[in-house]
Amino acid sequence: MKFFIDTANISEIKEIEAWGILDGVTTNPSLIAKEKDVVFEDVVKEIASIVDGPISAEVTVEGAEDMIAEGKMLAAIHENIVVKVPMNEEGLKAIRALEGEGISTNCTLIFSENQALLALAAGASFISPFVGRLDDIGHEGMALVRNIVSIIDFYGYEAEVIAASIRNPLHVKEAAQAGAHIATVPYKVFHQMLKHPLTDKGIEQFNKDFEGTKRANG
Ligand code: E4P
Repeated sequence: MKFFIDTANISEIKEIEAWGILDGVTTNPSLIAKEKDVVFEDVVKEIASIVDGPISAEVTVEGAEDMIAEGKMLAAIHENIVVKVPMNEEGLKAIRALEGEGISTNCTLIFSENQALLALAAGASFISPFVGRLDDIGHEGMALVRNIVSIIDFYGYEAEVIAASIRNPLHVKEAAQAGAHIATVPYKVFHQMLKHPLTDKGIEQFNKDFEGTKRANG
């Protein structure tokens, strides 16, 4: 499973990129808005200069024609930009048009298998089921990820599933078990994944035990 980071914060992206495990970035209008005093296009450009992989930038307009125009503008920022398009009628039209022009799209706000089927039929390169938001309303978000992966495998679609709205390390583990191609993970959850008290204790013990041991180079 590939890892994307789900943030528009440059220092978070730089830190996790330095771990050597990052394959891409997803942003959305709420994440961009959290970064104060920034210009949307500048943030997207800077992210693309840091991470060499798909960078999802979401359209902020309604109506297929406007989505297509904004999508083209975003795609022109960098070759790795993926245009994130919401799941609705206008979004489907925009996905079809943008993909037809060779621009990759990520269909976002997917909450059902039928929505995923429509996004796949429109030709989306990435499908983003929102796990946490489904869990929040008492539905099993990960079951949706599992089902979309099965549909993609069954029909041989080339699209990749991005397990989105990830809230905790258990979501990441279960996304991998469900066969998600990608998990887009918040900064905090990357740190939660890294830590285990027995690892910290083990490192401390090894270092303590090794103290005073002679080395070849003195
Ligand atoms: C990613 O593509 C989504 O925009 C993001 O994961 C949504 O997460 P949230 O439900 O925590 O806002």
